[in-house]
Amino acid sequence: MSRAARTIDVDLGERSYSIHVGENILGELGDAMRRAKFAQRVAIVSDRTVADLYLKPVEESLRRSGFESIAILLPAGEEHKNLESLAAIYDRVIAERFDRGSALVALGGGVVGDLAGFAAASYLRGIAYVQVPTTLLAQVDSSVGGKTAVNHREGKNLIGAFHQPRLVWIDVAALRSLPRRELLAGLAEVIKYGIIADAALFRRLEEKLDDLLAAESGILAEVVAASCAIKARVVEKDERESDLRAVLNFGHTVGHALEAATGYEKYLHGEAVAIGMVQAARISLAEGVCDAESFERIRRLIVRAGLPAQIPAGVSLEELIKHMEVDKKSAGGKIKFVLCEGIGATRFHALSPAEIVARLKENAH
Ligand SMILES: NC(=O)c1ccc[n+]([C@@H]2O[C@H](COP(=O)([O-])OP(=O)(O)OC[C@H]3O[C@@H](n4cnc5c(N)ncnc54)[C@H](O)[C@@H]3O)[C@@H](O)[C@H]2O)c1
Ligand SMILES: [Zn+2]
Repeated sequence: MSRAARTIDVDLGERSYSIHVGENILGELGDAMRRAKFAQRVAIVSDRTVADLYLKPVEESLRRSGFESIAILLPAGEEHKNLESLAAIYDRVIAERFDRGSALVALGGGVVGDLAGFAAASYLRGIAYVQVPTTLLAQVDSSVGGKTAVNHREGKNLIGAFHQPRLVWIDVAALRSLPRRELLAGLAEVIKYGIIADAALFRRLEEKLDDLLAAESGILAEVVAASCAIKARVVEKDERESDLRAVLNFGHTVGHALEAATGYEKYLHGEAVAIGMVQAARISLAEGVCDAESFERIRRLIVRAGLPAQIPAGVSLEELIKHMEVDKKSAGGKIKFVLCEGIGATRFHALSPAEIVARLKENAH
């Protein structure tokens, strides 16, 4: 039997948990949950696309380990990360009389993870849940750290809670079925971790990019584990995003504004972040915080990965300002903008949206 290749512990006192990263380990989830002393009743929350691919091995693993599971299947897609899907989860667990000891298993991408996580945070004032992320973005980002939410028609992630999972079980083999565009979008977040905290990881990405793009499991497991370790360390120091956790927003000020300015249709989140990172690195260079060689390495890796790097001609910078002003992280008119100090370290500068845009303009030619 294959073993989870790597374990990362997230130390949060009584909310501590482990992240396991391995290849072909879905079938061992039941064992792991038994060792972690989960009670017998479990609901697997998934979307229909992921369920077609991976529900069976997960169900069988749980059954072999003595769990009684039901499946709650939702339609796939960000547009279903809403109150209606949440209500569907509540309806089912209430009908099944799930109690405080029952648990949810989120099997899928960030949409399923955020939905199931928030259902677990709120049902009976909080029950346990497990993250079994199946997209690269979910494996390196959304499954770790305990942020859960659903969207409201007025905005993304407006209704949510902090609720840490009890276990994170990551099978990188699941990434082989992921559409290439989704894989690349997740890779943008991996590149982000290298830039903000780990020069060695960044160098590995430069060396092994072709293997990564071919979804080769060895290198995937290595970079997923390195990414989770960085996120875990940040979350340990700042669980509720009071200050330090904001380093994870490198590339996201411009990225989020671009997503909003293009109606959340043109770019996947990671693609917008890729552009945002190149622009943030450019601003870091202009501010004298980042050297020219590091900037060029960042830009080159993103372009080589097949990710976009430029703000498209159709988006006006004024439009971007508008969306930065409503960014929830802005305070006192200034945004805590994350700059990179070369590769592997960051620094915050307070910049107003107008200042950010002025620098983007200087860079445009
Ligand atoms: N909680 C957090 O800290 C956090 C952080 C970042 C993003 N998010 C949230 O994550 C969401 C985006 O997550 P995502 O990018 O994983 O999107 P997603 O969950 O919509 O998954 C993308 C698509 O891939 C499909 N899919 C998933 N796994 C697959 C696999 N192994 N093979 C084939 N297809 C597969 C899904 O069905 C879906 O159609 C957003 O809602 C975002 O707000 C949350
Ligand atoms: Zn992101």
